[in-house]
Amino acid sequence: MKIYRYKEVTSTQKIAKKLVENGAEEGVVVADLQTEGRGRLDRKWISPLGGLYFSIVLKINEKLPLISAIAVAQTLKKIDLDAKIKWPNDILIKNKKIAGILIECIDGYAILGVGINIDKSPLESATSIKDEGVHVSKEVLLNQILEHLHFYKSAENIVEEYKKLSNTIGRFVRIKTVKEEIEGKAVDIDEHGRLIIEKDNKLKTIISGDCIYLR
Ligand code: BTN
Repeated sequence: MKIYRYKEVTSTQKIAKKLVENGAEEGVVVADLQTEGRGRLDRKWISPLGGLYFSIVLKINEKLPLISAIAVAQTLKKIDLDAKIKWPNDILIKNKKIAGILIECIDGYAILGVGINIDKSPLESATSIKDEGVHVSKEVLLNQILEHLHFYKSAENIVEEYKKLSNTIGRFVRIKTVKEEIEGKAVDIDEHGRLIIEKDNKLKTIISGDCIYLR
């Protein structure tokens, strides 16, 4: 896959979308820093030097939210970090966020954006690879993620693999969706990556939202 490297961009998502508009069917856009990095749910992704920021153009695959979280978590596990997935696809180390994933769709393609804190975390509440005592180059990390993505795209039992890495199942959570806020126990993830919450002995399926751990 062709890799386009930049020192500074507004957002690698933006550049990747332009690639699609110009007819590219795949490609990776990597930048040393982003001035307008974006996170899920219209949040900012603070992107100073010292992090890994990239967006991949891929054919749409409905399992991408699961596959991408597994690929990032497995890559971090390979460098001895105990990575876990917080639903839907935040990557945590000891309950602190170390990486985030944003998936957007355009013209039948998915733009998979990944941000990983390497040298330091821009937020007090989060962590970085260096803070966890590990040294790794951005190049190695990116290549490993691309390899893992390739592998898991055709793997079976994706949901099982995701569930093994999840630290959301079994917790009491508050989920904020565009429509409502719901609290309950996260009991399962279904084959589409939706979260199943138990509340008052009833099960509720959540497609997407913001997840807060209550205990
Ligand atoms: C999140 O956890 O909210 C998702 C964060 C995604 C950040 C990455 S960094 C590379 C790509 N470009 C962006 O502007 N956002 C994604």
